[in-house]
Amino acid sequence: MTSDRDISTDDLSQVARRRLAWTRFWGQGPLHSLGTSFAGNYADAIGTFWQGEFAACRSHETILDIGCGNGPLAKILIDLYPEDGPEWTGIDLSNPRPTWIAQLVEAAAKRVRFRGGVLAEELPFEASSFDLVVSQFGIEYSDLSRSQPEVMRVLKPTGRLALVVHHAQSLPVYVSRQELRHLEFLSRSDFLESAAMMIPYFALLNDVESRARLQSDPRATEARQRFDAAQHEIQKRVVGEPIPDLLTDVQIFVQDCFCAAVSAGAPPALDRLSGYRALLEDSRLRLEDLVRSALDEAGILALQERFESAKGRAARSSLNALSVNDQVFGWALRVS
Ligand SMILES: C[S@@+](CC[C@H](N)C(=O)[O-])C[C@H]1O[C@@H](n2cnc3c(N)ncnc32)[C@H](O)[C@@H]1O
Repeated sequence: MTSDRDISTDDLSQVARRRLAWTRFWGQGPLHSLGTSFAGNYADAIGTFWQGEFAACRSHETILDIGCGNGPLAKILIDLYPEDGPEWTGIDLSNPRPTWIAQLVEAAAKRVRFRGGVLAEELPFEASSFDLVVSQFGIEYSDLSRSQPEVMRVLKPTGRLALVVHHAQSLPVYVSRQELRHLEFLSRSDFLESAAMMIPYFALLNDVESRARLQSDPRATEARQRFDAAQHEIQKRVVGEPIPDLLTDVQIFVQDCFCAAVSAGAPPALDRLSGYRALLEDSRLRLEDLVRSALDEAGILALQERFESAKGRAARSSLNALSVNDQVFGWALRVS
C-alpha cells in the first residue's frame, strides 16, 4: 500500500524531473516551444490573437503570464509598446533563459519580470495584483483544480483572462503523439545502444595500423552487424510514417557522433551521444505533458464554465478554435 508520504515524494520528483526537462529546453535558447511551426515569434492566428489582446491594454496595467517559458508573449507586448506600456510578469515551473531581453532598452527591460521555479498552483502574489492573466500553452499543464482558484485570487475583480490552450485535435498534439510513438520505439530499439558500441571502433579509423586490425577483429564485425540490424529496423519504420522527422534526426545525430569519434576520439563522441539520450528523455516528458494537457471540447467548456462562475454573474467570455493554415492549433478563451 502507498502511504501519503510516498505519494508526496513521488509527486515532488515528477515536478523536479519536469522542471529540469523544461529548464534544459529553454537553456537551448528557443523563444517558444513550437519552433517547427513558427520560425520567429508566434504569428498567424496566434500572433493576431495576442496582438489584439495586448493592444486593448491600458498603459501601466499589470499582466501575469502563466507557464511563460522564454517569454514569447512578453516579446509581442514589448514589440507593441517599446517605450512605455503595461508591465509583464511571467512565472514558470522551470527556470527560463530569455536571452532576447538583453537587447531591450532600459524602459522596456524594467517592465519585464521572469520568475522561474514558480508553480501556477502556488502563485507568490498578493490577492488582486493583476489586470490581465494570460497563458499560451501553459496553464493547462498545471493541476487546474488548484491553479484556476489561484489565478482568480491574484486577478483584480475587474481583471481579464486570455488563454490559448492545447486543443486535443490540433496539429501540435497530433505531431506530439507521433513523436511519442517514435520515442517509445527507440526505447525498445537497439539503435542508440549499438551506436555507442560502434563509437570506439570509429575512433580507431584515424590510425592506419588500427584500421587494418579492425578488418580482422570479430568484435568489430559483431558490433557493426548489430548496428546495421538496428539501423535497418529504423529505416523500415521511417518508410510509411507520416511524420518520421524525429527518427531521421536521430540517425543524422548518430552519424555526426561517428564523425566526431573519427576526428576527436571516442570519449567526446560518447559524451555527445549520452547527452543526446538525456535530451530525448526530456522530450518524452514534455511531449507526454503536452498530450495529457490538451483539452477536448468538453474539457475547454468545463474550464470556461469554471472561470465564468468564479468571475460571477456579470462575466463575459468567448471561446474559439484558432487555426493556422487550415489546421486547428489551439483553443482561445477570453473571460472578463
Ligand atoms: C509548452 S511550454 C509554453 C511556454 C510559453 N508559454 C510559450 O508559448 O512558448 C509550457 C510551459 O509550462 C511550464 N509549466 C508546466 N507546468 C507548470 C506549472 N504547474 N506551473 C507553472 N508552469 C508550468 C513549463 O515549464 C513550460 O515552460
